[in-house]
Amino acid sequence: MRHLLSAAELGAEEATSLLDTADTLKRTLLGREVRKLPTLRGRTVLTMFYESSTRTRVSFEIAGKWMSADVINVSSSGSSTSKGESLRDTALTLSAAGADCVIVRHPASGAAHRLSGWLDETGTQVVNAGDGMHEHPTQALLDAATLRERLGGLDGRRIAIVGDLLHSRVARSNVHLLRTLGAEVVLVAPPTLVPMGARQWGAEVTGDLDAELPGLDAVMMLRVQAERMDGAFFPSAREYSLSYGMNEARLARLPEHAVVLHPGPMLRGMEIASRVADSPSAAVAEQVRNGVHVRMAVLYHLLAGEEVTA
Ligand code: CP
Repeated sequence: MRHLLSAAELGAEEATSLLDTADTLKRTLLGREVRKLPTLRGRTVLTMFYESSTRTRVSFEIAGKWMSADVINVSSSGSSTSKGESLRDTALTLSAAGADCVIVRHPASGAAHRLSGWLDETGTQVVNAGDGMHEHPTQALLDAATLRERLGGLDGRRIAIVGDLLHSRVARSNVHLLRTLGAEVVLVAPPTLVPMGARQWGAEVTGDLDAELPGLDAVMMLRVQAERMDGAFFPSAREYSLSYGMNEARLARLPEHAVVLHPGPMLRGMEIASRVADSPSAAVAEQVRNGVHVRMAVLYHLLAGEEVTA
């Protein structure tokens, strides 16, 4: 793997290999007092986040540190970006300074691809940590890892992705990866939050969440991205919650084994009721935990390039 830019680029074999590596790393570290492997000693990983993040940035930093890489966080406000330096010049500067890998989150769709083009000749590798409304491949990998653990596998499973599909890079990456791993995906959203091309993604599209519930193995709730809506949020929060919120009544209509996911940050009370988010059916904390192991696996495959054995 040269870079990790999108879930669409991952074939079943490569995705499964990443998930297996994450699983091996998780089992290797389980119960250890000192969670430190020497694997990436001497390698330098930079995170460049041009949008807010808690989970992704922190878990990449922990992942790198648990593998003994030197991890440096570059913030747009504290770097020369705030003086007008371009993304290209910033990336080339960081590469020249010794970055083996740059992890980037950017509001523009396609930013990670552009970055990888500029850095290709330098040998610095790029991981997309979320680009605009396009993709968030490590989120899809950690979701797949969580579903594999909970359901025993993804082949033939029926998974609903519910909510603000229009603005969701999480949804796009998950549709690609879940289908690659053999799952059936149904997209559920109000018509105003369905992207124009969604019917070409290879998933079913519906507005009726309640009709889907009894046949699902998992429900992935999405964050409503008010910051990308220019103030025009339709339907209203109340209408949205009534038709698309995961509440206790809806949880009761899911099969007993079904899993509820949310990538976070959660808008409790609108997208998901607290009693659901904190219930045993929800896997939100597991998603975050798996995020560290999945990101360790991604860094390992990029920077060490070998398979991990237990
Ligand atoms: N799920 C996710 O990407 O969360 P953050 O924005 O906190 O990184």
